[in-house]
Amino acid sequence: MSTPSRRILVTGAAGEIGHGLVSAFAKDPDVHVIAVDLRDPGKAIRANLDDLHLGDICDRSFIDHIVTLHEVTEIVHLAALLSTRAEHVPERAHEVNVDGTFNLLRVAAEQAQSFSRVVKFTVPSSIAVYGLSEQEKSLGGKVGLDECLRPVTMYGANKLYCESLGRYYGRHYRSLTSEGPPPIDFRCLRLPGVIAAETKPTGGTSDFVPEMIHAAAAGQPYECFVREETRIPWMTMPECVDAMLGLLEAPALPGCVYNVSSFSASAGELEAALRPHFPNLQVTYTPHAGRQAMVDTWPDDVDVTAAMRDWGYAPRWTLEQALEHYIVPSVRRQYAST
Ligand SMILES: NC(=O)c1ccc[n+]([C@@H]2O[C@H](COP(=O)([O-])OP(=O)(O)OC[C@H]3O[C@@H](n4cnc5c(N)ncnc54)[C@H](O)[C@@H]3O)[C@@H](O)[C@H]2O)c1
Repeated sequence: MSTPSRRILVTGAAGEIGHGLVSAFAKDPDVHVIAVDLRDPGKAIRANLDDLHLGDICDRSFIDHIVTLHEVTEIVHLAALLSTRAEHVPERAHEVNVDGTFNLLRVAAEQAQSFSRVVKFTVPSSIAVYGLSEQEKSLGGKVGLDECLRPVTMYGANKLYCESLGRYYGRHYRSLTSEGPPPIDFRCLRLPGVIAAETKPTGGTSDFVPEMIHAAAAGQPYECFVREETRIPWMTMPECVDAMLGLLEAPALPGCVYNVSSFSASAGELEAALRPHFPNLQVTYTPHAGRQAMVDTWPDDVDVTAAMRDWGYAPRWTLEQALEHYIVPSVRRQYAST
C-alpha cells in the first residue's frame, strides 16, 4: 500500500465541523489525519483517524511534540472558543483563538522551512468579524468581504486578527529578508451560522436555529434567545464540509479570505418553514439582551461572489431545500434512534 501524500493535522477534530470534515477525509485514501483536541472525539470519529493527540493548542511544547512525530503537509485549524462562550471568558478566548492560532501558524512555517515545501493552512473565520451599526443593519442586503469590519465581540476581534495574521504568513512573511515564496498557503473561509443535524451546537451565538431544529425533532418547546425577525446568513453542515474541501483542494488562489453562505433566513422564517414538518412545534421568543446585541451587528447576508469566481463555490440549497434534503430526515433519524 502506498503512503498517503497528504498528512493533515486537524485541530478541534472533536467539534461539530471536525466531525463532518474528518468523516469526509476518511473517504480519501490519499489523506492521513492527525487529530488534536482537548477532548476525545468518540469512537466513530476515532475510527477515521490515523493518530489522536489530546491536549491544548496553547501549549507550544505539545504542538512542537506532535510535529516531531508527524511530517505534516497541511493544517486544518478548527479549535476555537465560539462567540457566546468567548464572551464569558474573553481572556481565555484570546489565548485559544489568537495565541493557539499563532502557535499553529508558527509550527506550519517551521515545517515548511524544514521540508522545503509550502504548508497549506486552512481555517474557518466567521461573520462575527463584521460589526454593523444600527443604520447599516437596517439597510439589509449582502455585505462585502471588506465592509463593516468592526467586530464588537472578543471572538469576532480574534477571528479578524487571525485573518490578518494568516494573510501575513501567507503573503508577506519576513518580507525584508527572505527570498522565495512565503512558507504558508493560507486559506480562510468566513462561515455563516452552520446548521448540523447530527450534533448539537454549544457556545455559538447562531445556535438559535440549530437549537430550534433539535427541539422540533425532540418534540420539545423552544424558547428562542433572539427576536423573531433576527436574520443572518446560514449553511448546512454538508455544505460547510463541501466548501472547506473546495477551498482546500483549489489550486493557487488570488485571495486569502472568502465569504460563503447558502441562504439568509430569520428565526421566524425558520419556524414557519419547520412547521409543515413538525406541526406541533412550539416556539416562544425571549430575547437575551447581550446575545441579541451581538447578532444585531452581524449582516443579514454576505457577498459570496469572490468564492464563486476564484474556486467555483456554489451555494447548494435554499432554506426549504436544506430542510427537505438534509435537516429534517437527519434529525428525524437521530431522534428516532434515541
Ligand atoms: N459552527 C458554526 O456555526 C461556526 C460558524 C463560524 C465559524 N465557525 C468556526 O469553525 C471552527 C469549528 O467550529 P465548531 O462549530 O466545530 O466548534 P466546536 O465548539 O464544536 O468545536 C471546537 C473544538 O475545539 C476544541 N478546542 C477548544 N479549545 C481547544 C484548545 N485550547 N486546544 C485544543 N482543542 C480545543 C473543543 O474541544 C472542540 O472539540 C471554529 O474555528 C469556529 O470559530 C463555526
